[in-house]
Amino acid sequence: MQLSDAVVLVTGASGGIGAATAELLAARGARVVCAGRDEAALAAVAARCGGSALTADLREPGAVDALVEEVLTRYGRLDAVVANAGIGHAGAVAAMTAEQVTSLVDLNVRSTLLLGRAAAAAFTTQPPADRAICFVTSIAGAVGVSGESVYSATKAAVEAFALLLGEELRDQRVHVGTVLPGIVDTAFFDRRGAPYDRRVPRPVPPSRVARAVVDVLAGRRRRVVVPRWLAVPAWLAGAVPGPYRALARRFG
Ligand SMILES: NC(=O)c1ccc[n+]([C@@H]2O[C@H](COP(=O)([O-])OP(=O)(O)OC[C@H]3O[C@@H](n4cnc5c(N)ncnc54)[C@H](OP(=O)(O)O)[C@@H]3O)[C@@H](O)[C@H]2O)c1
Repeated sequence: MQLSDAVVLVTGASGGIGAATAELLAARGARVVCAGRDEAALAAVAARCGGSALTADLREPGAVDALVEEVLTRYGRLDAVVANAGIGHAGAVAAMTAEQVTSLVDLNVRSTLLLGRAAAAAFTTQPPADRAICFVTSIAGAVGVSGESVYSATKAAVEAFALLLGEELRDQRVHVGTVLPGIVDTAFFDRRGAPYDRRVPRPVPPSRVARAVVDVLAGRRRRVVVPRWLAVPAWLAGAVPGPYRALARRFG
């Protein structure tokens, strides 16, 4: 799709990957709608993008539909969506509260699937045109990170959803893709309450993930692992899961 003048909704745009994506999209001429909860941070990103800000806690019932509805009301159309809002959690499942599990699933899966549904529904009510949806998942969903079982499962769920949503919307000129970041230098780890303490993979800047998201929206790619070399373990985990898990246990 053409990004110039396209109306693009970016969730989780108040910081990190979402903010970097919003800014890159604006630089490519898109009209960006930045969504998140932190009003001040969102306003600052929206100002840098020359776009608008919509505050919403996506875990709230009805919030996702209301968000998409508001974009349609303000702009009269929706051309693309970056489903990026997400939270992490590190620690054994048995040590998690039921509320922590629910919260991860509510944001990372439920609200993300609802956003895919709302975008697909909005696209079908508009005249045919090239449109796109990019889901920001995680390498964790492809390889399964030890100690992050619930988080990994939420991201794997979105990968499966994106694949099949893409099949459903293929004939309607909607390109659906995913970006699977490895480790990205954002507030994600502080927010989940467990800092990133491995030496490999090294964190990449959010701008690098933003470039991959733009490539997906533009229809150049369907599934992008960032950094690229992590596509090797992702492939191995799927092709030879037993040996992969043994290696992962040995080398972390
Ligand atoms: N950083 C990494 O290493 C990494 C690796 C793989 C995948 N990812 C994925 O990348 C995505 C972006 O993460 P990030 O690294 O940029 O982290 P981040 O800086 O913490 O950004 C997370 C974004 O999600 C939004 N958000 C959180 N809870 C929300 C809620 N209940 N309702 C609406 N918005 C909410 C936040 O907005 P507010 O603060 O305004 O609520 C924020 O803009 C996530 O889906 C994450 O799983 C990150």
